[in-house]
Amino acid sequence: MSIEPQKSSVKVPRLTTRDLAARKRPASGGGVPMVWLTAYSAPTARAMDPVADAILVGDSLGMTVYGMDSTLAVTLDMMIAHGLAVVRASARACVIVDMPFASYQSSPQEAFKSAARVMVETGCAGVKLEGGVEMAETIGFLVARGIPVVGHVGLTPQSVNRFGGYRAQGRTAAEAKKIMNDAKAVANAGAFAIVIEKTLEPLARAITAAVAVPTIGIGASPACDGQVLVMDDVIGLFDLFRPKFVKRYGEAGREMTKAFAAYAADVRARRFPTMEHCFVAKERGGAASKSRAKKAKPRTALK
Ligand code: KIV
Repeated sequence: MSIEPQKSSVKVPRLTTRDLAARKRPASGGGVPMVWLTAYSAPTARAMDPVADAILVGDSLGMTVYGMDSTLAVTLDMMIAHGLAVVRASARACVIVDMPFASYQSSPQEAFKSAARVMVETGCAGVKLEGGVEMAETIGFLVARGIPVVGHVGLTPQSVNRFGGYRAQGRTAAEAKKIMNDAKAVANAGAFAIVIEKTLEPLARAITAAVAVPTIGIGASPACDGQVLVMDDVIGLFDLFRPKFVKRYGEAGREMTKAFAAYAADVRARRFPTMEHCFVAKERGGAASKSRAKKAKPRTALK
């Protein structure tokens, strides 16, 4: 494993939650949709940082990274560990960290304690939490105390047991009305953006027109003010199922399998390592050690 730090020399100002809030597109159309992506690790955050407006450390990591079958068992400590890695490795994108199940639902005070830990221990710019009307008081409580919040309505995966699965939401007039009310409540409570997940398209479009804050769609509508996808779906790393709303832009899973197989074949055939990958001591006073003598502190120059 290479452990040499990768230095980035150009310092760019990091996008803030205010910058994102200002990206509501005009009702007349136009404007450039925001690009959000999930990330859970330093190398992936570093790779997307130049092109993402926001990086969401999603609790989807329970499924994509930890192999869980839902997001319910994700803990605050897991979110903080991954959030910190993403903040460290990014410089430009605004980093938002998901609040995991059972870390914020019981009271606004519990939500504040959990969200404050996330903010302080990761250095992220804000948190995201799931829920509508029932979470409005909590969102107002957090925002009033300095914590920027992204709402999340429609299909909210932490409520998978109530929904009985991951079906698209807003299929009946009553369901659509409830989700519209949820979005309005979250926006009125002070959320600076709202993720709309897996609803019928006209509903996401109507919510986008009805609220003053940017909407970020995932399986929602091209009319949303921005789009988010789970990173593993974008690069072709998560293969267990592929939701209809995913567009795949790479085959990282297949590339990994190929690379691992090539490495395994090389080791078994003794093609790797070769002497080129080995460390050998140079003779003292030889040409190589003389040329490095000024720089090298160790008594034995290693190649
Ligand atoms: O956890 C997650 O990945 C999400 C999605 C909406 C992107 O919340």
